[in-house]
Amino acid sequence: MVKKTVKPWQFISDEGAFTLERPEASSYLYFPLANEAGVMSAITPTLNGDIKSSQNAFLLTPVSAEDLHNNKSSRNFWLYIEGTGAWSVSGSAPSQVACSFQEDLSEKVKLEAGFLWHKLIRENKNIGIKAEVINFAPVENYKTELMMVSITNTGDKVLKITPTAAVPIYGRSADNLRDHRHVTSLLHRINTVENGVVVKPTLSFDERGHKANNVLYSVIGTEDNGDRPVGFFPEVEEFIGEGGSLEWPEAVVCNVEPYAAQGQHFEGYEAIGALRFKAVDLLPGETKAYIMMLSINEEGNEKEISELVDIYGSLDKFNSALERNKAFWKEKIERPAFHTVDKTFDGWMKWINLQPILRRIYGCSFLPHHDYGRGGRGWRDLWQDCLALLIMEPKEVRNLLFNNYGGVRIDGSNATIIGSKPGEFIADRNNIARVWMDHGAWPFLTTKLYLDLSGDLDFLLERQEYFKDRLISRCTEGDTEWSIEQGNKLKMVSGDIYKGTILEHILIQNLTPFFNVGMHNNIRLEGADWNDALDMAAEKGESVAFTAFYGSNLLEIAKLVRALKAKKGIESVAVAEEMMLLFDTLDAGANYDSIEYKKNLLKKYFETCKHNISGKTVEISVVKLAEDLEKKGNWIINHVRHQEWIKNSEGYQWFNGYYDNDGNRVEGDHEYGTRMNLTSQVFTTMGGVATDEQVECIIKSADKYLKDSKVGGYRLNTNYHEVKKNLGRLFGFAFGHKENGAMFSHMAIMYGNALYKRGFAKAGYEVINSIYAQCVDFEKSRIYPGVPEYINEKGRGMYHYLTGSASWMLLTVLTETFGVKGDLGDLVIEPKLLASQFDDQGTAGVEALFADRKIKVIYNNSKKLDYGQYRIQAVIINGSEVGCELTGGKAVIKRAVLEALEADKTHEISIQLSM
Ligand code: G1P
Repeated sequence: MVKKTVKPWQFISDEGAFTLERPEASSYLYFPLANEAGVMSAITPTLNGDIKSSQNAFLLTPVSAEDLHNNKSSRNFWLYIEGTGAWSVSGSAPSQVACSFQEDLSEKVKLEAGFLWHKLIRENKNIGIKAEVINFAPVENYKTELMMVSITNTGDKVLKITPTAAVPIYGRSADNLRDHRHVTSLLHRINTVENGVVVKPTLSFDERGHKANNVLYSVIGTEDNGDRPVGFFPEVEEFIGEGGSLEWPEAVVCNVEPYAAQGQHFEGYEAIGALRFKAVDLLPGETKAYIMMLSINEEGNEKEISELVDIYGSLDKFNSALERNKAFWKEKIERPAFHTVDKTFDGWMKWINLQPILRRIYGCSFLPHHDYGRGGRGWRDLWQDCLALLIMEPKEVRNLLFNNYGGVRIDGSNATIIGSKPGEFIADRNNIARVWMDHGAWPFLTTKLYLDLSGDLDFLLERQEYFKDRLISRCTEGDTEWSIEQGNKLKMVSGDIYKGTILEHILIQNLTPFFNVGMHNNIRLEGADWNDALDMAAEKGESVAFTAFYGSNLLEIAKLVRALKAKKGIESVAVAEEMMLLFDTLDAGANYDSIEYKKNLLKKYFETCKHNISGKTVEISVVKLAEDLEKKGNWIINHVRHQEWIKNSEGYQWFNGYYDNDGNRVEGDHEYGTRMNLTSQVFTTMGGVATDEQVECIIKSADKYLKDSKVGGYRLNTNYHEVKKNLGRLFGFAFGHKENGAMFSHMAIMYGNALYKRGFAKAGYEVINSIYAQCVDFEKSRIYPGVPEYINEKGRGMYHYLTGSASWMLLTVLTETFGVKGDLGDLVIEPKLLASQFDDQGTAGVEALFADRKIKVIYNNSKKLDYGQYRIQAVIINGSEVGCELTGGKAVIKRAVLEALEADKTHEISIQLSM
């Protein structure tokens, strides 16, 4: 049989709504539904997926990707149609199942979805029936997902229907999926109330032990006119009948009368919100709707149920809640909005805007591919998600950044267990002494973006605490004097909590790695770097890639320190006395070519801050501080540029990025084939370690060894053809998947970003565009709009939605492609758009926020010149030309000019581009 070609999704509005025909004929599709109250759902074209508010509170059974075609415990709504029999609005009856390899389908399914709502339309022409099912999580403060099912008689005969909602209530922790699945059903206390079924387990069994449970799970419903259900089937085994299943339940198939009325109590069985509504005669053309509320109440508040019915329990109420939901998300993701010649790209970028917000809500767990972790995010993700938030919701971010710095340890490492409240870091109780050597590099990058957008240099001088736990000396030793009762804040000898400036935190994070080198004088890999799966080279592994990143950070920090003097007249800054050791170029004797020297110095520093610190501070001149940082940064650049620049036997050149646990260089020629990593090229390019000539060589080599249109662009690495146990677990993964050679969006986008930054706009565009093109090629990627974590060997998008790459995509398109960025508070306009990105009139534009003003930057390039050909000729704000610094392709608009503009209005900044 020939496989049918698949129609791709298509945008149906300027607001990012899209439609997809036959969505159920593509496997592994899922869509997020969530709200700020903390309900997190995943929903599929067959209403599968799950609903939860935390690892320990799942309303529907937790699902992984494979369960999306395996699991029967999904949301459902059944009709018993006289003369026809059982019909499911999700298509789960055996006769309704449709797949891509089946020709003659009696049912047609269409999906429509937007921010953040999901609508399925299923129509059976033979029966003459159509169901529309709309799901969303309302914006109000309820952990609830609403679902409306509306049934229309599309035929010419009266349809006698008996409706039954059927939503199985798992009602417990995800841990119990395998651990005591049955015993935990004995904890269930099930009550039927006026509008539905409520489950409140007596106890909860999970990793916290056996505790009294407070969480209440409910499935309640009303008819469109507010009428209540007429009866219930609250236990799964009664609903399905002996030998039946959730895909062929006796209660529906045999149109059984409900056995439970309101006010009844059941105990110790798997529960289901099976709600029978009264039977109706549906006339031709007539529609009847039902509203369901699927909720979790962590406080055990039973009153909430009637509140929910009051607020959402009729068609009008549901519809107005849906409108509120649409308005809420529209506003949230309104900016940046891009306008190019490609409307699909513009719409796709809106979904990218949403993704960092989703990751704030879901963490890195809780969508079907993300079946690990227990919610929350890691340190690295915390900082990178802030990149997008700075662009989208800048007001809230200063505080967030400030709080995050409270997780830094005085040895330059950081807390890795992050609490649910901002700035909450938890001590490691499990003895997991692991340092990701890249962790210290990201906070500065994010802070630099904040300072560029805001000009808020005072932030650097704010004082913040340090995190303290048992682990010391970058987790290589334990502090025997410390106990958990002493709390998680670094103290002074006096016993009081020590606070240092944010600048001091940044310095510690970037200086301790500088001295922590391996046998090739690059920074040690420790537990891993950005690539979490490079985790088997803790002794002798080195990450040249991140050595380069730290090197460029040191130079950028030096610039900022100099700016403190130039912009604020600050001559010196206070640092903890112990840290003076790290500014070793202030005395003669620093010898960075000596590995021993560096190691000893670091050891000495660790000795000074094992348990507490003196509390004494020393004023250091900003000029001297900057000079010290410059010496270190330049040493790294020089070292990497010369020692790690390699050439293989085919004459290609690039940077080696790693040493393995035997101390051997990783990249270059190898008996099993050429070895090259993208990461090694990204940070050397981004931070200026690579010269322009080196960048040109890198592009050629990456095109030769890493580029593959099958996976949407540049792979993370070549095939090593070896389970390289002296480097990392990733080599155990099949090649072309995840961290082993997939097109891993995060790194690929950073590659694009780095190329743009260095002025290689064409090459940068190629990277970004190939990812975009792959994602929107639905037949290959099989994902809804947005960017997934990676593209696998077959071209499929994997781990959709919750990925740090979305922040980088947004950042890159806004600040590099469109060139709208900050420089210590001033607005810089430096477009790197290619001729092909302008529309027929030669315009392209972006709406963004800057200096608390809404701006619309419009580029006018009537001659359709390419990047490199055009120059900025004039900057016109709201119709009047403004004086600003113009240097070739770049204009700098002073912050004061923007601040003089009215707040709340959108201001048009028109940029004339010509030769
Ligand atoms: C994920 C993790 C990220 C890590 C990366 C590579 O990437 O969240 O911290 O650096 O894998 O191991 P993401 O797709 O979220 O960017």
